[in-house]
Amino acid sequence: MNKDNLGNTDISSADRLPFSQACENNKQPILNVLQKELQDYTHVLEIGSGTGQHSVYFAPRLPHLQWQTSDVINNHQVIQAWHNSYPAPNLHAPLALDLMKDAIPISKDNNPYDAVFTANTLHIIAWSLVERLFELVGEALPLGGKLIVYGPFNENGLYTSASNQSFDISLRQRDPNSGIRHKEDIVALAKQHQLTLENEYQMPANNQILVFKK
Ligand SMILES: C[S@@+](CC[C@H](N)C(=O)[O-])C[C@H]1O[C@@H](n2cnc3c(N)ncnc32)[C@H](O)[C@@H]1O
Repeated sequence: MNKDNLGNTDISSADRLPFSQACENNKQPILNVLQKELQDYTHVLEIGSGTGQHSVYFAPRLPHLQWQTSDVINNHQVIQAWHNSYPAPNLHAPLALDLMKDAIPISKDNNPYDAVFTANTLHIIAWSLVERLFELVGEALPLGGKLIVYGPFNENGLYTSASNQSFDISLRQRDPNSGIRHKEDIVALAKQHQLTLENEYQMPANNQILVFKK
């Protein structure tokens, strides 16, 4: 795989790493928000790192902070493979975090996290695990810490687009416990765990970023 020193992927010559096209499409718009929201933050925990593509793109472009990946163990090999292809000094190998059973893991460099990022997870995991995520993050973050969530959300009880409606139907057909969450429910849940909605961004393809601050 070809790459420049910022870890840019030459997709046309990409080798056989498991690959998410959605990540390739959304990584730059998300990075633009992270560069603004995380300028004063130093230790980020990513929950549900997936393939690891986001982490290899973000870490070298946010060199002032440490980026700690995490996911269920089944995904670690893939994340590690991406990290091996695109290493960065501030990018850390995945830690085990299964919201069904794990606590927030201690970072590789033993420092507390002051921010948490998660993309495209809240509509995948069951609502009970969404509750667990906010509980764990609310406990783990210090005052002033941020939780940044990317993904699709419903607003005012409605889908925000026809494509989100079809996506939601397909998610629920595959797993009835999954589905696009209502922004109001997420904001109310966050409040229960001392996390207040501070900023929100409309993103391409009918996604949003919600920024919560403790
Ligand atoms: C749609 S993928 C999103 C991956 C990546 N963040 C992205 O945006 O491409 C959903 C992620 O949620 C993770 N996930 C599912 N169940 C989980 C659980 N119980 N605990 C933690 N993560 C979980 C999956 O392993 C996967 O990485």
